[in-house]
Amino acid sequence: MKKVKVWDLPTRLFHWTLVASVIFMFVSAKMGGSMLQWHLRCGLFLLALILFRIIWGFVGSDTARFTQFVKSPKHIIRYIKGEISENEQPGHNPLGALMVVALIFGVLFQVATGLFSPDENSYIYDAYLSKFAGSNASDIRKIHLIFANILMILAIIHFVVVLFYRVIKRHNLITPMITGNKYLNDPVPQLKFASIFKALIILIITAAVAYSITLIK
Ligand code: HEM
Repeated sequence: MKKVKVWDLPTRLFHWTLVASVIFMFVSAKMGGSMLQWHLRCGLFLLALILFRIIWGFVGSDTARFTQFVKSPKHIIRYIKGEISENEQPGHNPLGALMVVALIFGVLFQVATGLFSPDENSYIYDAYLSKFAGSNASDIRKIHLIFANILMILAIIHFVVVLFYRVIKRHNLITPMITGNKYLNDPVPQLKFASIFKALIILIITAAVAYSITLIK
């Protein structure tokens, strides 16, 4: 077994920052009151983060790229039959990738509906773009509230599956998401990693896009 770097730093930082932010979004929404102000701010932060990850999915390191892990149904069936080794696909496995895509685009959908939602509790903290939703604002808010529960269920399934791999299949996926390294059999795959500088530039651009939403009058 050889130690192989599989996850780059931007993807790992993205993941754990996403987890912390999503938990904060649930807690702040439940607390309500003036915490809603922080819910809105964290929503913008999440927008920058998720846009970063989507762009990174096209121009980032090999294992972060959608083309590396989003596969055809045929490929997924081969994985389920045990015909695809971790050496062949060292990042997300073809089945787990479905959940990864659902979580990334689920968070994007949640953030997008949040941006247009009015505050129908205190009527103080309408989201940045709610005035543009017109008569649909209230419905968008309802979708935002319902989808929050769907997202929570997806995140719980994701967590339970990761635990299942750890406890039942004795396959630790969590440590690699922290350290970036996996232990693979020889011959190990040759992976290409994109630079941190490139990640920073993308993050600055997506942060500017998210911030510019606050300037829309
Ligand atoms: C709010 C909760 C969570 C969300 C929204 C979430 C979302 C995601 C996403 C989007 C990815 C793909 C990462 C990428 O390619 O950029 C991922 C992967 C992963 N997550 Fe989470 N996650 C959550 C909680 C957790 C928790 C609590 C753990 C474990 C303690 C965990 C462990 C992992 C692992 C190990 C992977 C990599 C799976 C693989 O090897 O294919 N996640 N998660």
